[in-house]
Amino acid sequence: MIKDLWYKNAIIYSVNVESFLDSNGDGVGDFEGLSRSLDYLQGMGITCLWLAPFQKSPRRDHGYDISDYYQVDPCFGTLGDFVDFTHEAHQRGIRVMMDLAINHTSDQHPWFQEARRDPSSKYRDYYVWSETKPEDAHKGVIFPGVQETTWTRDPVARQYYFHRFYPFQPDLNIDNPLVLAEIRKIMGFYLELGVSGFRMDAVPFVIEGKSPQARSPMNWQLLRDFRQFLQWRSRDAIILAEANVEPKHSVRYFGEDGDRLQMMFNFWVNQHVFLAMATGEVKPLVKALEQTRERPPNAQWAQFLRNHDELDLGRLSERQRQAVFDAMAPDPDMQLYERGIRRRLAPMLHGDQRRLRMAYSLMFALPGTPVLRYGDELGMGDRLDLPERDSGRTPMQWSNEKNAGFSRADKLVRPIVDEGPYGYEQVNVADQRRDPESLLNWTARMIRIRKEVPEIGWGNFDVLDVGHPGVLALRYRWLNNSVVVVHNLTDEAVEIGLRLPGERDRTLVNLLTRDHSQADRRGLHPLIMEPYGYHWYRAGGLGYLLDRTAV
Ligand code: NOJ
Repeated sequence: MIKDLWYKNAIIYSVNVESFLDSNGDGVGDFEGLSRSLDYLQGMGITCLWLAPFQKSPRRDHGYDISDYYQVDPCFGTLGDFVDFTHEAHQRGIRVMMDLAINHTSDQHPWFQEARRDPSSKYRDYYVWSETKPEDAHKGVIFPGVQETTWTRDPVARQYYFHRFYPFQPDLNIDNPLVLAEIRKIMGFYLELGVSGFRMDAVPFVIEGKSPQARSPMNWQLLRDFRQFLQWRSRDAIILAEANVEPKHSVRYFGEDGDRLQMMFNFWVNQHVFLAMATGEVKPLVKALEQTRERPPNAQWAQFLRNHDELDLGRLSERQRQAVFDAMAPDPDMQLYERGIRRRLAPMLHGDQRRLRMAYSLMFALPGTPVLRYGDELGMGDRLDLPERDSGRTPMQWSNEKNAGFSRADKLVRPIVDEGPYGYEQVNVADQRRDPESLLNWTARMIRIRKEVPEIGWGNFDVLDVGHPGVLALRYRWLNNSVVVVHNLTDEAVEIGLRLPGERDRTLVNLLTRDHSQADRRGLHPLIMEPYGYHWYRAGGLGYLLDRTAV
Protein backbone atom coordinates (compact mmCIF):
# COMPACT_ATOMS: atom_id res chain seq x y z
CA MET A 1 0.00 0.00 0.00
CA ILE A 2 1.39 3.40 -0.95
CA LYS A 3 1.89 5.41 2.23
CA ASP A 4 2.01 8.91 0.85
CA LEU A 5 -1.60 9.49 -0.11
CA TRP A 6 -1.83 13.00 1.30
CA TYR A 7 -5.61 13.03 1.52
CA LYS A 8 -5.63 10.15 4.01
CA ASN A 9 -4.62 12.49 6.80
CA ALA A 10 -5.30 15.99 5.58
CA ILE A 11 -7.10 18.63 7.63
CA ILE A 12 -9.47 20.29 5.18
CA TYR A 13 -10.97 23.72 5.77
CA SER A 14 -13.90 24.92 3.71
CA VAL A 15 -14.03 28.59 2.87
CA ASN A 16 -15.93 30.98 0.64
CA VAL A 17 -13.74 33.71 -0.74
CA GLU A 18 -16.56 36.23 -0.49
CA SER A 19 -17.06 35.78 3.25
CA PHE A 20 -13.49 35.57 4.50
CA LEU A 21 -11.57 38.86 4.25
CA ASP A 22 -12.15 41.93 2.08
CA SER A 23 -8.82 43.56 1.23
CA ASN A 24 -10.02 46.31 -1.13
CA GLY A 25 -12.94 47.69 0.84
CA ASP A 26 -15.74 46.85 -1.60
CA GLY A 27 -17.59 44.79 0.98
CA VAL A 28 -16.81 41.43 -0.64
CA GLY A 29 -14.04 39.07 0.43
CA ASP A 30 -11.33 38.51 -2.17
CA PHE A 31 -8.22 36.49 -3.01
CA GLU A 32 -5.88 39.14 -1.67
CA GLY A 33 -7.77 38.91 1.62
CA LEU A 34 -7.57 35.13 1.58
CA SER A 35 -3.82 35.38 0.98
CA ARG A 36 -3.50 37.65 4.00
CA SER A 37 -5.31 35.14 6.16
CA LEU A 38 -2.99 32.26 5.30
CA ASP A 39 -0.86 32.78 8.41
CA TYR A 40 -3.97 32.34 10.50
CA LEU A 41 -4.90 29.15 8.66
CA GLN A 42 -1.39 27.79 8.85
CA GLY A 43 -1.28 28.58 12.57
CA MET A 44 -4.42 26.56 13.08
CA GLY A 45 -2.75 23.64 11.36
CA ILE A 46 -5.01 23.09 8.41
CA THR A 47 -3.32 21.43 5.44
CA CYS A 48 -5.81 21.86 2.63
CA LEU A 49 -8.28 24.56 1.68
CA TRP A 50 -11.45 23.81 -0.22
CA LEU A 51 -12.66 26.90 -2.04
CA ALA A 52 -16.33 27.27 -2.94
CA PRO A 53 -16.87 28.33 -6.58
CA PHE A 54 -15.04 31.57 -7.36
CA GLN A 55 -15.41 31.79 -11.13
CA LYS A 56 -17.41 34.43 -12.93
CA SER A 57 -21.04 34.05 -12.01
CA PRO A 58 -24.28 35.98 -11.50
CA ARG A 59 -24.02 34.46 -8.01
CA ARG A 60 -27.64 33.53 -7.65
CA ASP A 61 -26.59 30.29 -5.96
CA HIS A 62 -23.44 31.34 -4.20
CA GLY A 63 -21.36 30.87 -7.34
CA TYR A 64 -22.70 27.39 -8.16
CA ASP A 65 -24.05 29.06 -11.30
CA ILE A 66 -20.96 29.72 -13.39
CA SER A 67 -21.00 31.91 -16.50
CA ASP A 68 -17.29 31.66 -17.35
CA TYR A 69 -15.15 28.81 -16.05
CA TYR A 70 -11.89 30.49 -17.04
CA GLN A 71 -12.28 33.73 -15.15
CA VAL A 72 -12.22 34.64 -11.51
CA ASP A 73 -15.33 36.60 -10.63
CA PRO A 74 -14.14 40.23 -10.77
CA CYS A 75 -15.41 40.87 -7.24
CA PHE A 76 -12.76 38.43 -5.94
CA GLY A 77 -9.84 39.67 -8.05
CA THR A 78 -8.13 38.31 -11.12
CA LEU A 79 -6.68 34.99 -12.20
CA GLY A 80 -3.36 36.53 -11.24
CA ASP A 81 -4.59 37.01 -7.69
CA PHE A 82 -5.77 33.41 -7.63
CA VAL A 83 -2.39 32.13 -8.76
CA ASP A 84 -0.59 34.34 -6.23
CA PHE A 85 -2.85 33.01 -3.51
CA THR A 86 -2.27 29.39 -4.52
CA HIS A 87 1.46 30.01 -4.57
CA GLU A 88 1.41 31.55 -1.11
CA ALA A 89 -0.67 28.68 0.22
CA HIS A 90 1.85 26.21 -1.15
CA GLN A 91 4.69 28.17 0.45
CA ARG A 92 3.05 27.38 3.76
CA GLY A 93 2.48 23.74 2.94
CA ILE A 94 -1.25 24.22 2.36
CA ARG A 95 -2.90 22.58 -0.62
CA VAL A 96 -5.78 24.16 -2.49
CA MET A 97 -8.83 22.31 -3.71
CA MET A 98 -11.69 23.94 -5.51
CA ASP A 99 -15.30 23.24 -6.29
CA LEU A 100 -15.96 21.80 -9.70
CA ALA A 101 -19.56 22.74 -10.51
CA ILE A 102 -20.12 21.11 -13.87
CA ASN A 103 -23.52 19.47 -13.45
CA HIS A 104 -24.96 22.72 -14.75
CA THR A 105 -23.92 26.20 -15.82
CA SER A 106 -25.58 29.52 -15.20
CA ASP A 107 -28.32 30.37 -17.69
CA GLN A 108 -26.12 33.40 -18.42
CA HIS A 109 -23.27 31.23 -19.69
CA PRO A 110 -22.60 31.99 -23.38
CA TRP A 111 -23.09 28.27 -24.13
CA PHE A 112 -26.66 28.43 -22.90
CA GLN A 113 -27.35 31.78 -24.51
CA GLU A 114 -26.14 30.44 -27.84
CA ALA A 115 -27.99 27.15 -27.36
CA ARG A 116 -31.36 28.80 -26.77
CA ARG A 117 -30.98 31.23 -29.66
CA ASP A 118 -29.82 28.87 -32.35
CA PRO A 119 -31.13 25.29 -32.68
CA SER A 120 -28.38 24.49 -35.15
CA SER A 121 -25.59 25.75 -32.91
CA LYS A 122 -23.25 23.10 -31.53
CA TYR A 123 -24.15 24.42 -28.09
CA ARG A 124 -27.79 23.37 -28.40
CA ASP A 125 -26.78 19.85 -27.55
CA TYR A 126 -24.71 21.01 -24.58
CA TYR A 127 -27.98 21.08 -22.64
CA VAL A 128 -30.99 18.79 -22.27
CA TRP A 129 -34.19 19.76 -24.10
CA SER A 130 -37.71 18.53 -24.55
CA GLU A 131 -40.52 19.68 -26.84
CA THR A 132 -43.10 19.09 -24.16
CA LYS A 133 -43.02 19.21 -20.40
CA PRO A 134 -42.18 15.70 -19.17
CA GLU A 135 -44.82 14.23 -16.89
CA ASP A 136 -42.46 13.75 -13.98
CA ALA A 137 -41.20 17.36 -14.09
CA HIS A 138 -42.38 18.04 -10.56
CA LYS A 139 -40.43 15.09 -9.18
CA GLY A 140 -36.87 15.12 -7.94
CA VAL A 141 -36.66 18.84 -7.17
CA ILE A 142 -33.70 19.55 -4.91
CA PHE A 143 -35.05 22.60 -3.13
CA PRO A 144 -38.65 21.76 -2.20
CA GLY A 145 -40.57 24.79 -1.09
CA VAL A 146 -38.45 27.02 -3.34
CA GLN A 147 -38.08 25.05 -6.58
CA GLU A 148 -41.23 23.72 -8.26
CA THR A 149 -40.03 21.81 -11.28
CA THR A 150 -37.01 20.32 -13.00
CA TRP A 151 -38.14 21.32 -16.49
CA THR A 152 -38.72 24.94 -17.44
CA ARG A 153 -39.85 26.37 -20.76
CA ASP A 154 -37.39 28.72 -22.37
CA PRO A 155 -39.30 31.29 -24.43
CA VAL A 156 -36.42 31.84 -26.84
CA ALA A 157 -35.70 28.17 -27.56
CA ARG A 158 -39.41 27.42 -27.33
CA GLN A 159 -38.52 24.16 -25.63
CA TYR A 160 -38.24 22.91 -22.10
CA TYR A 161 -34.77 22.51 -20.59
CA PHE A 162 -33.80 20.26 -17.72
CA HIS A 163 -32.45 21.69 -14.46
CA ARG A 164 -31.96 19.42 -11.47
CA PHE A 165 -31.45 22.51 -9.29
CA TYR A 166 -32.78 26.08 -9.65
CA PRO A 167 -34.22 27.12 -13.05
CA PHE A 168 -31.24 29.42 -13.65
CA GLN A 169 -28.95 26.36 -13.56
CA PRO A 170 -29.56 24.40 -16.80
CA ASP A 171 -28.01 20.93 -16.64
CA LEU A 172 -25.20 20.12 -19.02
CA ASN A 173 -25.71 17.16 -21.30
CA ILE A 174 -22.96 14.87 -20.17
CA ASP A 175 -23.76 12.35 -22.92
CA ASN A 176 -22.39 14.84 -25.41
CA PRO A 177 -18.65 14.16 -25.94
CA LEU A 178 -18.10 17.86 -26.55
CA VAL A 179 -19.36 18.62 -23.05
CA LEU A 180 -16.99 16.05 -21.61
CA ALA A 181 -14.15 17.63 -23.53
CA GLU A 182 -15.09 20.99 -21.99
CA ILE A 183 -15.08 19.52 -18.48
CA ARG A 184 -11.67 18.00 -19.03
CA LYS A 185 -10.39 21.31 -20.31
CA ILE A 186 -11.65 23.10 -17.19
CA MET A 187 -10.04 20.52 -14.93
CA GLY A 188 -6.82 20.67 -16.89
CA PHE A 189 -6.73 24.45 -16.69
CA TYR A 190 -6.94 24.60 -12.91
CA LEU A 191 -4.55 21.70 -12.47
CA GLU A 192 -2.01 23.74 -14.42
CA LEU A 193 -2.65 26.57 -11.98
CA GLY A 194 -1.68 24.31 -9.13
CA VAL A 195 -4.83 22.98 -7.45
CA SER A 196 -4.60 19.63 -5.70
CA GLY A 197 -8.01 18.53 -6.81
CA PHE A 198 -11.68 19.20 -6.91
CA ARG A 199 -14.71 18.91 -4.70
CA MET A 200 -17.03 17.67 -7.41
CA ASP A 201 -20.47 19.14 -7.01
CA ALA A 202 -23.61 17.01 -7.24
CA VAL A 203 -21.89 13.85 -8.51
CA PRO A 204 -24.95 11.53 -8.68
CA PHE A 205 -26.67 14.11 -10.85
CA VAL A 206 -23.64 14.60 -13.06
CA ILE A 207 -23.67 10.93 -14.03
CA GLU A 208 -27.42 10.26 -14.09
CA GLY A 209 -29.20 9.75 -17.40
CA LYS A 210 -30.97 12.98 -18.25
CA SER A 211 -33.09 12.41 -21.32
CA PRO A 212 -36.77 13.36 -21.03
CA GLN A 213 -37.84 9.88 -22.05
CA ALA A 214 -37.03 6.74 -20.15
CA ARG A 215 -34.13 7.63 -17.89
CA SER A 216 -30.92 6.00 -19.06
CA PRO A 217 -28.77 4.29 -16.41
CA MET A 218 -26.03 5.99 -14.39
CA ASN A 219 -22.84 6.43 -16.36
CA TRP A 220 -20.28 5.07 -13.88
CA GLN A 221 -17.58 4.89 -16.49
CA LEU A 222 -17.40 8.68 -16.38
CA LEU A 223 -16.02 8.62 -12.86
CA ARG A 224 -13.17 6.41 -14.00
CA ASP A 225 -12.53 8.72 -16.93
CA PHE A 226 -12.36 11.76 -14.66
CA ARG A 227 -9.97 9.95 -12.36
CA GLN A 228 -7.71 8.85 -15.17
CA PHE A 229 -7.60 12.26 -16.73
CA LEU A 230 -6.81 13.86 -13.40
CA GLN A 231 -3.96 11.54 -12.57
CA TRP A 232 -2.50 11.72 -16.01
CA ARG A 233 -2.32 15.49 -15.75
CA SER A 234 -1.34 15.74 -12.11
CA ARG A 235 -0.18 12.70 -10.25
CA ASP A 236 -1.46 13.46 -6.76
CA ALA A 237 -4.63 15.43 -7.48
CA ILE A 238 -7.88 14.00 -6.20
CA ILE A 239 -11.64 14.30 -6.52
CA LEU A 240 -13.77 14.64 -3.40
CA ALA A 241 -17.32 13.74 -4.31
CA GLU A 242 -20.42 15.41 -3.04
CA ALA A 243 -22.73 12.41 -3.18
CA ASN A 244 -25.36 12.04 -0.51
CA VAL A 245 -26.15 8.40 -1.17
CA GLU A 246 -27.03 5.27 0.71
CA PRO A 247 -24.05 3.24 1.92
CA LYS A 248 -24.77 0.37 -0.42
CA HIS A 249 -24.11 2.69 -3.36
CA SER A 250 -20.99 4.39 -2.10
CA VAL A 251 -18.56 1.76 -3.25
CA ARG A 252 -19.63 2.44 -6.81
CA TYR A 253 -18.35 5.99 -6.44
CA PHE A 254 -14.99 4.81 -5.10
CA GLY A 255 -14.90 1.96 -7.60
CA GLU A 256 -14.52 -1.59 -6.32
CA ASP A 257 -10.82 -1.47 -7.11
CA GLY A 258 -10.50 2.12 -5.98
CA ASP A 259 -10.29 3.26 -9.58
CA ARG A 260 -12.95 5.97 -9.47
CA LEU A 261 -13.13 8.92 -7.05
CA GLN A 262 -10.67 9.03 -4.17
CA MET A 263 -12.87 10.71 -1.58
CA MET A 264 -16.53 11.12 -0.68
CA PHE A 265 -18.26 13.11 2.00
CA ASN A 266 -19.79 10.70 4.46
CA PHE A 267 -23.30 12.16 4.54
CA TRP A 268 -24.62 8.95 6.00
CA VAL A 269 -22.46 9.09 9.11
CA ASN A 270 -22.99 12.86 9.32
CA GLN A 271 -26.74 12.50 9.73
CA HIS A 272 -26.32 9.74 12.27
CA VAL A 273 -23.83 11.78 14.29
CA PHE A 274 -26.51 14.43 14.73
CA LEU A 275 -29.09 11.80 15.54
CA ALA A 276 -26.75 10.34 18.17
CA MET A 277 -26.07 13.77 19.63
CA ALA A 278 -29.78 14.60 19.72
CA THR A 279 -30.81 11.37 21.42
CA GLY A 280 -27.69 10.58 23.47
CA GLU A 281 -27.69 7.06 21.97
CA VAL A 282 -24.75 5.89 19.93
CA LYS A 283 -26.28 2.69 18.51
CA PRO A 284 -27.52 4.17 15.20
CA LEU A 285 -24.16 5.87 14.73
CA VAL A 286 -22.31 2.61 15.30
CA LYS A 287 -24.53 1.03 12.67
CA ALA A 288 -23.82 3.87 10.23
CA LEU A 289 -20.09 3.45 10.81
CA GLU A 290 -20.35 -0.27 10.16
CA GLN A 291 -22.38 0.34 7.02
CA THR A 292 -19.72 2.63 5.60
CA ARG A 293 -16.74 0.62 6.79
CA GLU A 294 -16.01 -1.15 3.51
CA ARG A 295 -14.03 0.91 1.06
CA PRO A 296 -11.05 0.26 -1.18
CA PRO A 297 -7.76 0.85 0.68
CA ASN A 298 -6.87 3.96 -1.31
CA ALA A 299 -10.32 5.53 -0.88
CA GLN A 300 -11.19 7.87 1.94
CA TRP A 301 -14.22 9.34 3.66
CA ALA A 302 -14.45 13.03 4.38
CA GLN A 303 -16.03 13.46 7.81
CA PHE A 304 -17.72 16.73 8.66
CA LEU A 305 -20.27 18.26 10.97
CA ARG A 306 -21.66 21.30 9.18
CA ASN A 307 -21.04 22.54 5.67
CA HIS A 308 -22.17 25.54 3.61
CA ASP A 309 -25.57 23.96 2.91
CA GLU A 310 -28.40 22.98 5.19
CA LEU A 311 -27.70 20.02 7.45
CA ASP A 312 -29.43 17.46 5.27
CA LEU A 313 -31.30 14.90 7.38
CA GLY A 314 -33.18 13.43 4.43
CA ARG A 315 -31.77 9.96 4.94
CA LEU A 316 -33.09 9.58 8.49
CA SER A 317 -36.54 8.20 9.15
CA GLU A 318 -39.23 10.79 9.85
CA ARG A 319 -39.15 9.99 13.54
CA GLN A 320 -35.39 10.24 13.72
CA ARG A 321 -35.36 13.53 11.80
CA GLN A 322 -38.00 14.92 14.13
CA ALA A 323 -35.85 13.99 17.11
CA VAL A 324 -32.99 16.07 15.69
CA PHE A 325 -35.32 18.94 14.84
CA ASP A 326 -36.76 18.88 18.36
CA ALA A 327 -33.35 18.95 19.97
CA MET A 328 -31.53 21.35 17.66
CA ALA A 329 -33.91 23.28 15.43
CA PRO A 330 -37.41 23.33 16.97
CA ASP A 331 -38.57 26.48 15.22
CA PRO A 332 -39.79 25.82 11.62
CA ASP A 333 -37.74 28.81 10.48
CA MET A 334 -34.58 26.95 11.50
CA GLN A 335 -35.52 24.13 9.13
CA LEU A 336 -35.21 24.05 5.37
CA TYR A 337 -36.32 22.12 2.27
CA GLU A 338 -38.45 19.76 4.34
CA ARG A 339 -35.37 17.82 5.35
CA GLY A 340 -32.71 19.95 6.93
CA ILE A 341 -31.45 22.55 9.36
CA ARG A 342 -30.03 25.88 8.32
CA ARG A 343 -28.21 26.72 11.52
CA ARG A 344 -24.53 26.76 12.37
CA LEU A 345 -23.20 24.17 14.76
CA ALA A 346 -22.73 26.34 17.87
CA PRO A 347 -26.36 27.53 18.16
CA MET A 348 -27.58 24.01 17.37
CA LEU A 349 -25.69 22.83 20.44
CA HIS A 350 -26.98 25.78 22.49
CA GLY A 351 -23.50 27.26 22.64
CA ASP A 352 -22.49 24.59 25.18
CA GLN A 353 -18.69 24.59 25.00
CA ARG A 354 -18.35 21.09 26.42
CA ARG A 355 -20.72 19.72 23.84
CA LEU A 356 -19.15 21.65 20.97
CA ARG A 357 -15.73 20.33 21.85
CA MET A 358 -17.02 16.81 22.20
CA ALA A 359 -18.70 17.13 18.77
CA TYR A 360 -15.50 18.35 17.14
CA SER A 361 -13.36 15.81 18.92
CA LEU A 362 -15.74 13.13 17.62
CA MET A 363 -15.46 14.48 14.09
CA PHE A 364 -11.66 14.34 14.29
CA ALA A 365 -11.93 10.79 15.60
CA LEU A 366 -14.21 9.36 12.90
CA PRO A 367 -12.73 7.08 10.24
CA GLY A 368 -11.60 9.39 7.47
CA THR A 369 -10.32 12.89 6.93
CA PRO A 370 -11.90 15.82 8.79
CA VAL A 371 -13.39 18.83 6.99
CA LEU A 372 -14.00 21.99 9.02
CA ARG A 373 -16.25 24.85 8.05
CA TYR A 374 -14.78 28.35 8.37
CA GLY A 375 -15.86 30.07 11.56
CA ASP A 376 -16.79 26.86 13.32
CA GLU A 377 -13.35 26.95 14.99
CA LEU A 378 -14.65 30.05 16.80
CA GLY A 379 -18.16 28.78 17.44
CA MET A 380 -19.69 31.33 15.08
CA GLY A 381 -23.48 31.65 14.97
CA ASP A 382 -25.98 32.28 12.19
CA ARG A 383 -28.49 34.85 10.99
CA LEU A 384 -31.88 33.31 10.48
CA ASP A 385 -33.18 36.57 9.03
CA LEU A 386 -31.21 35.79 5.85
CA PRO A 387 -32.89 33.61 3.22
CA GLU A 388 -32.41 29.86 2.84
CA ARG A 389 -28.82 28.75 3.33
CA ASP A 390 -27.38 32.26 3.58
CA SER A 391 -28.01 32.07 7.33
CA GLY A 392 -24.71 30.23 7.83
CA ARG A 393 -22.67 32.13 5.27
CA THR A 394 -22.07 35.37 7.15
CA PRO A 395 -18.64 37.06 7.13
CA MET A 396 -15.76 35.69 9.16
CA GLN A 397 -15.47 37.35 12.56
CA TRP A 398 -11.88 38.53 12.89
CA SER A 399 -12.10 41.11 15.68
CA ASN A 400 -14.44 43.37 17.64
CA GLU A 401 -13.77 46.29 15.28
CA LYS A 402 -16.17 47.64 12.68
CA ASN A 403 -17.64 44.86 10.50
CA ALA A 404 -15.89 42.29 12.67
CA GLY A 405 -12.63 43.27 10.95
CA PHE A 406 -13.89 41.62 7.76
CA SER A 407 -14.14 44.79 5.65
CA ARG A 408 -13.87 48.58 5.76
CA ALA A 409 -16.92 49.03 3.53
CA ASP A 410 -20.28 50.35 4.69
CA LYS A 411 -22.26 47.78 2.80
CA LEU A 412 -21.25 44.13 2.96
CA VAL A 413 -21.85 41.12 0.76
CA ARG A 414 -23.88 39.71 3.65
CA PRO A 415 -24.56 41.10 7.11
CA ILE A 416 -22.36 40.18 10.04
CA VAL A 417 -23.71 38.37 13.08
CA ASP A 418 -23.75 41.49 15.23
CA GLU A 419 -26.05 40.72 18.14
CA GLY A 420 -26.47 38.25 20.94
CA PRO A 421 -24.06 35.66 22.26
CA TYR A 422 -22.61 34.90 18.80
CA GLY A 423 -22.18 38.54 17.79
CA TYR A 424 -18.69 39.52 16.65
CA GLU A 425 -17.96 41.42 19.83
CA GLN A 426 -18.31 38.16 21.73
CA VAL A 427 -16.99 35.71 19.15
CA ASN A 428 -13.94 36.69 17.13
CA VAL A 429 -10.44 35.53 16.20
CA ALA A 430 -8.52 38.32 17.91
CA ASP A 431 -9.98 37.63 21.36
CA GLN A 432 -9.83 33.88 21.05
CA ARG A 433 -6.26 33.92 19.84
CA ARG A 434 -5.23 35.57 23.12
CA ASP A 435 -7.23 33.24 25.32
CA PRO A 436 -5.48 29.90 25.93
CA GLU A 437 -8.81 28.27 26.80
CA SER A 438 -10.66 29.47 23.70
CA LEU A 439 -12.34 27.19 21.18
CA LEU A 440 -9.90 28.44 18.56
CA ASN A 441 -6.85 27.40 20.56
CA TRP A 442 -8.54 24.17 21.52
CA THR A 443 -9.19 23.44 17.83
CA ALA A 444 -5.56 24.10 16.96
CA ARG A 445 -4.50 21.69 19.71
CA MET A 446 -6.92 19.03 18.48
CA ILE A 447 -5.63 19.43 14.95
CA ARG A 448 -2.11 18.87 16.23
CA ILE A 449 -3.19 15.72 18.05
CA ARG A 450 -5.14 14.48 15.04
CA LYS A 451 -2.08 14.89 12.85
CA GLU A 452 -0.08 12.84 15.34
CA VAL A 453 -2.62 10.04 15.08
CA PRO A 454 -2.40 8.90 11.46
CA GLU A 455 -3.95 5.62 12.61
CA ILE A 456 -7.37 7.27 12.19
CA GLY A 457 -6.82 8.19 8.57
CA TRP A 458 -5.14 4.95 7.61
CA GLY A 459 -6.17 2.24 10.02
CA ASN A 460 -9.18 0.06 10.51
CA PHE A 461 -11.44 0.60 13.45
CA ASP A 462 -13.27 -1.65 15.81
CA VAL A 463 -16.04 -0.55 18.11
CA LEU A 464 -15.24 -1.46 21.72
CA ASP A 465 -18.01 -2.55 23.99
CA VAL A 466 -18.24 -0.17 26.95
CA GLY A 467 -21.63 -1.21 28.26
CA HIS A 468 -23.19 2.25 28.12
CA PRO A 469 -25.65 3.35 25.40
CA GLY A 470 -24.37 6.94 25.26
CA VAL A 471 -20.64 6.27 24.96
CA LEU A 472 -18.78 5.48 21.76
CA ALA A 473 -15.34 3.89 21.95
CA LEU A 474 -13.39 3.31 18.76
CA ARG A 475 -10.03 1.63 18.44
CA TYR A 476 -7.82 2.14 15.40
CA ARG A 477 -4.90 -0.07 14.55
CA TRP A 478 -2.20 0.57 12.03
CA LEU A 479 1.47 -0.42 11.72
CA ASN A 480 1.64 -2.12 15.10
CA ASN A 481 0.08 0.86 16.85
CA SER A 482 -3.23 1.19 18.51
CA VAL A 483 -5.27 4.24 19.48
CA VAL A 484 -8.54 4.42 21.41
CA VAL A 485 -10.94 7.37 21.28
CA VAL A 486 -13.89 7.52 23.65
CA HIS A 487 -16.79 9.99 23.51
CA ASN A 488 -19.62 10.50 25.94
CA LEU A 489 -22.58 11.92 24.03
CA THR A 490 -24.67 12.44 27.13
CA ASP A 491 -24.82 15.27 29.62
CA GLU A 492 -24.16 12.93 32.52
CA ALA A 493 -20.91 11.72 33.99
CA VAL A 494 -20.64 7.99 33.41
CA GLU A 495 -18.38 5.25 34.57
CA ILE A 496 -17.39 2.68 32.01
CA GLY A 497 -15.10 -0.29 31.72
CA LEU A 498 -12.99 -0.46 28.61
CA ARG A 499 -11.61 -3.75 27.40
CA LEU A 500 -9.03 -3.94 24.62
CA PRO A 501 -9.31 -7.35 22.98
CA GLY A 502 -5.86 -8.68 22.17
CA GLU A 503 -4.10 -5.87 24.07
CA ARG A 504 -4.94 -6.76 27.61
CA ASP A 505 -1.68 -5.71 29.19
CA ARG A 506 -1.12 -2.46 27.40
CA THR A 507 -1.19 0.81 29.28
CA LEU A 508 -3.52 3.46 27.93
CA VAL A 509 -1.78 6.82 27.80
CA ASN A 510 -4.09 9.82 27.62
CA LEU A 511 -3.02 12.14 24.79
CA LEU A 512 -4.88 15.19 26.09
CA THR A 513 -4.11 15.09 29.81
CA ARG A 514 -1.38 13.52 31.94
CA ASP A 515 -3.31 10.42 33.03
CA HIS A 516 -2.77 6.89 32.05
CA SER A 517 -4.62 3.74 32.84
CA GLN A 518 -3.66 0.16 33.56
CA ALA A 519 -6.14 -2.65 33.08
CA ASP A 520 -7.39 -4.28 36.30
CA ARG A 521 -7.30 -8.03 36.98
CA ARG A 522 -10.35 -8.59 34.78
CA GLY A 523 -8.64 -6.79 31.90
CA LEU A 524 -10.84 -3.72 32.28
CA HIS A 525 -9.77 -0.09 32.21
CA PRO A 526 -12.21 1.68 34.52
CA LEU A 527 -12.85 5.16 33.13
CA ILE A 528 -14.88 8.08 34.36
CA MET A 529 -16.25 10.08 31.47
CA GLU A 530 -17.30 13.64 32.29
CA PRO A 531 -20.57 14.94 30.79
CA TYR A 532 -19.81 15.28 27.05
CA GLY A 533 -16.32 14.01 27.84
CA TYR A 534 -13.82 12.91 25.21
CA HIS A 535 -10.64 10.92 25.79
CA TRP A 536 -7.91 10.06 23.32
CA TYR A 537 -5.51 7.26 24.29
CA ARG A 538 -2.55 5.58 22.80
CA ALA A 539 -2.22 1.95 23.83
CA GLY A 540 1.22 0.90 24.86
CA GLY A 541 2.77 4.22 25.74
CA LEU A 542 4.53 7.09 24.14
CA GLY A 543 7.32 5.08 22.62
CA TYR A 544 5.00 4.44 19.73
CA LEU A 545 7.27 5.93 17.12
CA LEU A 546 9.90 3.35 18.03
CA ASP A 547 7.26 0.60 17.95
CA ARG A 548 5.79 1.54 14.62
CA THR A 549 6.51 -1.11 12.05
CA ALA A 550 7.67 -0.06 8.62
CA VAL A 551 5.01 -1.85 6.61
C1 NOJ B 1 -24.50 21.38 -4.02
C2 NOJ B 1 -23.92 22.58 -3.36
O1 NOJ B 1 -23.31 22.20 -2.16
C3 NOJ B 1 -25.04 23.57 -3.17
O2 NOJ B 1 -24.62 24.66 -2.40
C4 NOJ B 1 -25.55 23.99 -4.51
O3 NOJ B 1 -26.69 24.82 -4.35
C5 NOJ B 1 -25.94 22.79 -5.36
N1 NOJ B 1 -24.98 21.73 -5.32
C6 NOJ B 1 -26.13 23.21 -6.80
O4 NOJ B 1 -24.88 23.44 -7.39
